Amino acid sequence: MKYINDKKEIIYNILRLLIILHFCGVSDGQGCQQSPKVVASCPQSAYDWIMHAKIVCTESNNYHCLITERHQDNKQNIIECCMKPQNITRGHMPRYNLNKKDLQEIECQEDYYMPTQFPSNRYRDHDVQHCKYMKSNCNMEGMKICNHGSTTTDRSCYCDYKELYVPELPLDPGEHCFSLKDNLCSLRNDCDKNYQELDMMYQCVNICKIGYFRPENEMICRHLPEGTTIAGKVTSEVSVPDNIKPTVKASTPPTSTKDNMVKPEMENQGTKDNHIVALYGVGLVCIATTIGGVVIGIFVLRRYKKASAKKLSMQAQSCDILL
Ligand SMILES: *[C@@H]1O[C@H](CO)[C@@H](O)[C@H](O)[C@H]1NC(C)=O
Repeated sequence: MKYINDKKEIIYNILRLLIILHFCGVSDGQGCQQSPKVVASCPQSAYDWIMHAKIVCTESNNYHCLITERHQDNKQNIIECCMKPQNITRGHMPRYNLNKKDLQEIECQEDYYMPTQFPSNRYRDHDVQHCKYMKSNCNMEGMKICNHGSTTTDRSCYCDYKELYVPELPLDPGEHCFSLKDNLCSLRNDCDKNYQELDMMYQCVNICKIGYFRPENEMICRHLPEGTTIAGKVTSEVSVPDNIKPTVKASTPPTSTKDNMVKPEMENQGTKDNHIVALYGVGLVCIATTIGGVVIGIFVLRRYKKASAKKLSMQAQSCDILL
């Protein structure tokens, strides 16, 4: 009997350990230290943010003011609470998930971007609904959007050369686009409008022959689509070749920032994948410990039944003897 009781105690302790492990796995993320408080808005300046943080949290660095998963443009849901700050991957912003009681990363919206990693407890200039930086809209005089950027990069702009706008400051060789803060567009007046126009590199070139046209963001003249027999063949008619930079490929519009954009997005994907793998890991541990618990539970029950059956038969035997 003593032996069985010892075994039971061991199994009980194993069960207890498994249960503790199980809950450790679930609450591994760092949620709010107290239950989050719903607020109408977050502090509206970096100064207010710091001052308010000192009032709300004993460790002011732990102050967070975040949107939740229930937040929508027409229905605000903002909370504040104290918790350990976490690093947010570039191209993302933090959000508090009330259901999971944990901090999450969500991608920047189309008009915003975040080029670097940053801590989740920081004031953000365009409020907590948005990533820190707003993208340029290239709407100054004579400007157009060249490239929409990404979650980690700003848009780039170019000058509307079809309307004879050119960058005021020189661009790097082979470049056609620039960032809004680096340049402005102004009218160029030295082309002879009777027989010249600007190409995409902002050079004066001869207007295409009749039956040809210069597509937007291409260097050379192409056949007009209708009434042509040599379909799709590229025919150049530029008679001011000295002005054309040989580095520019004619058929592809130059999107120099594109190469820079691809990498960060792939990196983000990598960290996201890691998060998913970690989540699956936690999930697996939970499932394994639950199944383990149930199996051991059944084992204990069976042992207990067997033991009591033995006891009964022993009692019966002793009864027999007595009788
Ligand atoms: C966040 O990143 C910085 C700089 O890379 C690092 O020093 C810091 O320890 C990180 N903090 C957390 C909570 O991971």
